[in-house]
Amino acid sequence: MKHFDYLVLGSGIAGLSFALKAAACGRVAIVTKKDRAESNTNYAQGGIAAVFSKEDSFALHVRDTLVAGAGLCNEPVVRQIIEDGPARIAELIALGTQFSEREARSENGVRELDLGREGGHSKRRILHVKDVTGREIERRLLQAVAAQPNITIFENHLAIDLITRQKLGGGGENRCLGAYVFDKPNGVVETFVAPVTLLATGGCGKVYLYTTNPDIATGDGVAMAYRAGATVANMEFIQFHPTCLYHPKAKSFLISEAVRGEGGVLRNLRGVEFMEGVHPLKSLAPRDIVARAIDSEIKKSGATHVWLDITHKPAPFIMERFPNIYQTCLGYGLDITKEPIPVVPAAHYQCGGVRTTVDGQTDIPGLYAVGEVACTGLHGANRLASNSLLEAVVCAHRAAQHIAGNPLPPVEVSIPAWQSGEACNADEMVVVAHNWNEIRRLMWDYVGIVRTTKRLERAQKRLVNLQQEIHEYYWNFIVTADLLELRNIATVAELIVQCALQRPESRGLHFTLDFPDANPDWAQRNTVVRR
Ligand code: FAD
Ligand code: SIN
Repeated sequence: MKHFDYLVLGSGIAGLSFALKAAACGRVAIVTKKDRAESNTNYAQGGIAAVFSKEDSFALHVRDTLVAGAGLCNEPVVRQIIEDGPARIAELIALGTQFSEREARSENGVRELDLGREGGHSKRRILHVKDVTGREIERRLLQAVAAQPNITIFENHLAIDLITRQKLGGGGENRCLGAYVFDKPNGVVETFVAPVTLLATGGCGKVYLYTTNPDIATGDGVAMAYRAGATVANMEFIQFHPTCLYHPKAKSFLISEAVRGEGGVLRNLRGVEFMEGVHPLKSLAPRDIVARAIDSEIKKSGATHVWLDITHKPAPFIMERFPNIYQTCLGYGLDITKEPIPVVPAAHYQCGGVRTTVDGQTDIPGLYAVGEVACTGLHGANRLASNSLLEAVVCAHRAAQHIAGNPLPPVEVSIPAWQSGEACNADEMVVVAHNWNEIRRLMWDYVGIVRTTKRLERAQKRLVNLQQEIHEYYWNFIVTADLLELRNIATVAELIVQCALQRPESRGLHFTLDFPDANPDWAQRNTVVRR
């Protein structure tokens, strides 16, 4: 057994930011399932939204967030996160993050931040490090963590399940006591015990066949919290990013919305700017609208993709502003300064998740959740671009403060070691791989950008069968990382479908042909699932 004061599951912006603050009060374990930098954070391109310009205001950022959220945001939470933003970003700068600055100096000779623009933002307010913002933030946070003697990182350790008093039996108020964790290199399950556990496990893009997310995004945190009895909300709101590179050799490569923010234009294969008649912001409309318009273009024409064209901008500007996108595309034989980029929508962000307060509290004492895994009410039915890094860094700070002001007693109950099946199965790899693919494809085909009740019900039936099969495997055989992740994507898929079936309307990212309009009775109503 490993005892700590704080157990942090995940090493993206949420987990690392929290760990740095918590380390001032006690010993912290960060458990992370691959290499420490491997996270959605590491791939974030566009940047982090916050009010830094004289032309901008908190009120405008709040308004844009509420408009994108389509009536479902929690307004006090939106206000709080946006108002806390500049202070938290100042801390990232103090850690060494060098956000891009404008070439020209201000009247008094000061270098100003180069604020980018993205879909749904009425002002320029995206702080970015060229087009590799997440990589730079992750690097700086990891550097700071490495200098903290109170923090230990366990790489290649995959959290399997939360340990709660309720699960152990014995009565008393429920409480989270830690987690069982699979030490992948050694093939053993360890017990991590702590009075506070923070879920910072990120999102679930891998539930879908096409995604911008890296392989770590298998919804483990939502699945673990659900199994532990926490409330999960609004999982129907999966954000599809409109512009993922379409190329046979490219796996999950995003073309940042900032490309459209700098003037990139969407065209169909006949060269028509199809966003013209769809929304006043055209190619820079909120993501749900752009993704649906692309989906419709592709379905109407039978084309495999649409074009994103930035060739009208000077080549040196494109190469300087988007070096990662330029170089990556060039590696696939595509010079984006000369040719339009083939793009398709792909699953990108989970707006729902484990229901929390703005301080990261779940409804299980001792269990906090921050970042993409959590549902605070900031995003409502559709996240405004670049609001997620902001939410993660603000809520991580608030959670650390909340815990410092409300300390929990040490864990004194005895916790049994993990019980696992004994058998090895030679067929396992093929069955696990088959079920993975089946779930991801059925989610893409039946629970994608445009839904119907019939397709959702079909998906639900298939998922019940798959769940049974996975359950058998799970208890009979020795656990492997693939099997553990498969169990989680199956659970999360089921929760997305359950939430989607609960909502008899179209709102934000949830669009169903059976209820094509928003229903005012459902404004401000969250879909909730609990075990
Ligand atoms: P993550 O950064 O995903 O970290 C999750 C961590 O948990 C990882 O370390 C992972 O290994 C670990 N983990 C997961 N499961 C387990 C487990 N069972 N056991 C142990 N460890 C586990 N948002 C913006 O605001 N601006 C952007 O410009 C932007 N661009 C993006 C570009 C791309 C390509 C992608 C994919 C996302 C982008 N987003 C952006 C979204 C944003 O990056 C994420 O929402 C945010 O980084 C999530 O941070 P997080 O700390 O919650 O999770
Ligand atoms: C992007 O750069 O387009 C991603 C921004 C985001 O997801 O917030």
